[in-house]
Amino acid sequence: MANMIKIFDTTLRDGEQAPGFSMVLAEKCEMAKQLERLGVDVIEAGFAIASPGDFESVENISKIIKNSTVCALARMRDKDIEAAAKALKPAVRPRIHVFIATSDLHMKYKLQMTREEVLSSVQKNVAYAASLVPEVEFTAEDATRSDPQFLYQVLETAIKAGASIVNIADTVGYTAPNEFYELVKGAFSHVDGIEHVTVSAHCHNDLGLAVANALAAVSAGASQVECTINGIGERAGNTSLEEFVMNLKARSDFYGVDCAVNTQQIYKTSALLSSITGVKVQPNKAIVGANAFAHEAGIHQHGMIANRETYQIIAPETIGLTSNRMVLGKHSGKHAVEQRLQEMGYSLSEENMEQAFRQFKLLADTKKEITDRDLEAMVIRRTISIPETYRLENYSISMGNQISSTAWVRMVDQNGTAQEAAVASHNGPIDAAFKAISQMVDVPFELADFIISAVTGGTNAQGVVYAKIKYEGKLYTGSGVSADTIEAGIQAYISAINTMIWATQQTL
Ligand code: KIV
Ligand code: ZN
Repeated sequence: MANMIKIFDTTLRDGEQAPGFSMVLAEKCEMAKQLERLGVDVIEAGFAIASPGDFESVENISKIIKNSTVCALARMRDKDIEAAAKALKPAVRPRIHVFIATSDLHMKYKLQMTREEVLSSVQKNVAYAASLVPEVEFTAEDATRSDPQFLYQVLETAIKAGASIVNIADTVGYTAPNEFYELVKGAFSHVDGIEHVTVSAHCHNDLGLAVANALAAVSAGASQVECTINGIGERAGNTSLEEFVMNLKARSDFYGVDCAVNTQQIYKTSALLSSITGVKVQPNKAIVGANAFAHEAGIHQHGMIANRETYQIIAPETIGLTSNRMVLGKHSGKHAVEQRLQEMGYSLSEENMEQAFRQFKLLADTKKEITDRDLEAMVIRRTISIPETYRLENYSISMGNQISSTAWVRMVDQNGTAQEAAVASHNGPIDAAFKAISQMVDVPFELADFIISAVTGGTNAQGVVYAKIKYEGKLYTGSGVSADTIEAGIQAYISAINTMIWATQQTL
């Protein structure tokens, strides 16, 4: 069994390709930087041939990432492999990841290829990729529904052709832990040369077993596991990184292996992904859910006071959850706020800090104690460098349950020019305000989603609003935070518009 398990993160590829999780370049770059801080060994940055945007993401991430390997996905085609190699050129540690399906079902209906044709494609394309970059990963797609003997033959062919990582994929989340254990274990006795390469597992969560199957693969000798933050990914998602890693850490007595992830960065990485995509994890999600460390039952609370280990197997600090040691409020100065943010791992530019402090002061007028979660909600999206093409200056709304709502909104653009519009709507204040803003922006986008949640409890809690807008088939996310939910909604809508404008300018 390997002592150190390599963590291959595919949030930006398998995760990002899932509906509702698309990200723009600046968001992907910020996410990649955070993944590097988290200490993942490999960042799969995208599928370079898929679109110019994907190519650009792989190329930009290759430029900024210095410690983790940067990987690009490619089908078994010259053009795919060449695009991956080209996008990876600036990477310190580039890896091309080629894949082909090995199940009879996929070969017959999807690829329309015979076993012999698949074998010769693996030989040719792995060798070609290996001639362009120092490290090639080969994936047998739908491996868990493949004839094991054929699968082993394919893996051996890939190794002979130059793959240094062979990945066994449970593409449709079909396998069971014991079965997957046997399949991976079998590779070690049936595949010549396997002892010289890294054996990897890539699991999907269709039956809720992605983490269990990845752990079974580790027990069978796999030394790389592919996962995503918050378990996002195609359909029911992939192995959740935070759950897999915390299994290794919390049960090191059982698994006897470790990984290089800095667990203190787990919470922040999960929160950043949620704020970028506007998709929160469910409250009862293991490790990063809001209730993961909450103890409601009196008997549990009593036990916890006597000895925390009675009902807690992981200390929340292990994943970077902080508890306010210093109470921030109305009388706290900028220095105290900045220091607390730094302790939480946020270092903001001077301009962002100014804005965050102004927001802090406004909140402190209505809320007595400001928690770490409040601070985090205010600053988390500020770390992503998307210019504010439009900024909300003022708004006023007249509304009631017997009258139509009228919203007046004034925005300032990048050049300092102010615009204003007023719109009446029978569909409430948010609809009126959004229509006023759309009138000023004059781009035919539409609102795709609008999610409101509270940062902490109480009627004076801050509201976090995510708005997703759709333009030319693509989704753009924005967020707003304020104790006034309508204001947070307006900010979220403007922030989504700014993301859209910035992203469309990048691809012109
Ligand atoms: O699920 C899968 O098989 C994949 C491969 C492309 C690695 O995502
Ligand atoms: Zn996958």
